[in-house]
Amino acid sequence: MSVHKPLPHDAAPLHVTGTARYVDDIPTPSGTLHLVFGLSEVAAGSIDAMDLEAVRAAEGVVAVLTGEDIGHVDCSPSNHDEPLLALGEVHYVGQPVFLVIAKTHLAARKAARLGKITYSERPALLSIEDALAADSRFEEGPRIWARGDAGAAISGAAHQIEGRIEMGGQEHFYLEGQAALVTPQECGDMHVVSSTQHPTEIQHKVAEALGVPMHAVRVETRRMGGGFGGKESQGNHLAIACALAARLTGKSCKMRYDRDDDMVITGKRHDFRVDYRVGFDAEGRVEGIEFTHYTRCGWAMDLSLPVADRAMLHADNAYFLPDVRIESHRLRTNMCSATAYRGFGGPQGMLGIERVMDHIAHTLGREALEVRKVNYYRAKAAQPSGAGTAKRFGGAHSPAAPADDGPQTTPYGQVVEDFILHEMTERLEATSDYAARRAAVDAWNAQNPILKKGLALTPVKFGISFTLTHLNQAGALVHVYQDGSVHLNHGGTEMGQGLFQKVAQVAASVFGLDPVMVKITATDTAKVPNTSATAASSGSDLNGMAVQAACVTIRDRIAALLAETHQADPKDVEFKDGRVIVGDDEFSFAEAANLAYMARVSLSSTGFYATPKVAWDRLKGDGNPFFYFAYGASVSEVVIDTLTGENRILRADILHDVGSSLNPALDIGQIEGGYVQGAGWLTTEELVWDDKGRLRTHAPSTYKIPACGDRPRIFNVELFDRANPEDTIHRSKAVGEPPFMHGNSVLMALSDAVQACGDGSLYADLNAPATAECILMAVNRQRGVDV
Ligand code: MTE
Ligand code: MOS
Repeated sequence: MSVHKPLPHDAAPLHVTGTARYVDDIPTPSGTLHLVFGLSEVAAGSIDAMDLEAVRAAEGVVAVLTGEDIGHVDCSPSNHDEPLLALGEVHYVGQPVFLVIAKTHLAARKAARLGKITYSERPALLSIEDALAADSRFEEGPRIWARGDAGAAISGAAHQIEGRIEMGGQEHFYLEGQAALVTPQECGDMHVVSSTQHPTEIQHKVAEALGVPMHAVRVETRRMGGGFGGKESQGNHLAIACALAARLTGKSCKMRYDRDDDMVITGKRHDFRVDYRVGFDAEGRVEGIEFTHYTRCGWAMDLSLPVADRAMLHADNAYFLPDVRIESHRLRTNMCSATAYRGFGGPQGMLGIERVMDHIAHTLGREALEVRKVNYYRAKAAQPSGAGTAKRFGGAHSPAAPADDGPQTTPYGQVVEDFILHEMTERLEATSDYAARRAAVDAWNAQNPILKKGLALTPVKFGISFTLTHLNQAGALVHVYQDGSVHLNHGGTEMGQGLFQKVAQVAASVFGLDPVMVKITATDTAKVPNTSATAASSGSDLNGMAVQAACVTIRDRIAALLAETHQADPKDVEFKDGRVIVGDDEFSFAEAANLAYMARVSLSSTGFYATPKVAWDRLKGDGNPFFYFAYGASVSEVVIDTLTGENRILRADILHDVGSSLNPALDIGQIEGGYVQGAGWLTTEELVWDDKGRLRTHAPSTYKIPACGDRPRIFNVELFDRANPEDTIHRSKAVGEPPFMHGNSVLMALSDAVQACGDGSLYADLNAPATAECILMAVNRQRGVDV
């Protein structure tokens, strides 16, 4: 079987030789026109006048469009609140106001600079405080989910603390920027090539914009040079603009944002402020907790509601919260519209509770890992009668959990049936040599005044499924040709994560073929309709199942035919190693395919899958939003220079649960990449908007993503090789997003290092990103130095 094998990414040779084709590499039809937006220079206000004469007169310009010309052409994935071009009002610096259509990309770019727009500016709502004062929101009042009486439980506990953590947003920094190419077809149909995680959404929005049925628009996506959530909805504007321009001019139209434009125009991760109040016992066990999430959603709704929901759904992370109240404010501000980003709010919710664990540990003077373990959800009883589970998995301070107490539930009422983190933590503590390194770090810090080290272990429990339940479906279309080669199509998109290779392995396994016999093709709305975004880490779960179903249908038809001609039972027809074996007879797969063709048996099939068991009420926060949880734990060791705040990760050890891995090489790649991206979010990636609402960090010169040199020198990643108890594709688990949250151990290790600079009385209180400047200030606070 080809599943479970560590095959390289199918396009790896193309990636490294520069021959992988992205939208901008596609040879364009002659006469192709190029589009660039003219952007708003103010964060809030109305447009008094637009002088676009110079733009129109500029060399190479074919046409210039404004909101007045086209009316409300909507680009929003949710709320119909995003006109392609501003309609009298502007809502953020960078909002597209006019569209230049020119003969070359450079000509369009130069012309777009020549627009003269005068505005009546209004005070912009930029901060959380601004938005709260103006009651500027996307829902009426905050969303509140509660279980028990958190207030009473907090007051009744032996200890209480309260605090706040602020965490910044994050630029996706996909290497390939947003891009689209639209070519008009006969009868007004459009062919769209888009760098998108969501071809069906592009199809839907382009059809809506043109006023044509969806069947008139075909969208293809071969691959993206990274998406990370930033291409779920933010590609709509480019595809729609190109389609309008293509209809107007009859020419192919192409648009790609330059890096600065991409960073200014498109949405990023939501920044959050999380306020907390918690009551706990002498061991640090939480008795009651209240969280208030404030999130800046930017000017349009986009995906902010489900993002904020997912933050609430991960406010518990791996910890049982008996009495809990979570309040979430989705604030409308005059900034780019924040959007999906790896983890989709989960990281922000999870960092809240990790911060609480760290704060509790500091308050009690206990090791943070012990406090974390005390609060872990109960492990599933190994044997119904055995009282040994907690003792075996729980470490010294774990609650003695009698097996018959059964599993616990999340704040939203989902039973945590499969909690494997006690065992995973124990294993990671052993493989990372945690206890000895804890002692070594403490000893180092006792002797070294300038360089201080920090160590932390944090867990991850991430819910898998789209929380918008109907999205948990997928389709596939598989053809087997007469020569036994296989052509594979499904609704998922490839953005570097390796989905296509995994799904090809699934298909190859059904037919007993080598995956090289399976042709991986572009995602195409004409082949598989009504697809969900490749998102929520569910790409391989959903599309793997749909493809398997399609392949099994074809395999069963071939088996039925051979069984009939050989008087055998179809169940006894075997497909393996490129051969098809029936009784004493044996064929190559190609011969079997040809026999089926000659016997007039269909060698093409669709497949479909819908995730079982998911149903919940998002308004109440109650039910089972997730099919299962993916787990993991990481240990990070950091060192900080207390004179400058500079720091680095010395070592990382990660143990991660991907069920039975579909492809261990790709999964380890996802885990390494996720950790580094998560660490970047919490350390160097700082977004700065000035008091006029202008993004000042709109290029790699000022916005610092981790570079190769920032990865930990010692980087151990291990897969926790255990089959998913739920019936997923080959018992694997989703891997795309969960490892991102291993970055939390970096922030917690930095907190530990800062803590080591003082006498222990003052909590480090780090916000994220913990840039060198922030760390230096935190160190100085510890040392009582005035800054
Ligand atoms: N890995 C790479 N190399 N590039 C990406 O853009 N996106 C991430 C993750 N891993 C991404 C990635 C995000 S946000 C998601 S939701 C998943 O991949 C989507 O793919 P999957 O569902 O196939 O895991
Ligand atoms: Mo990923 S944020 O779900 O695209």
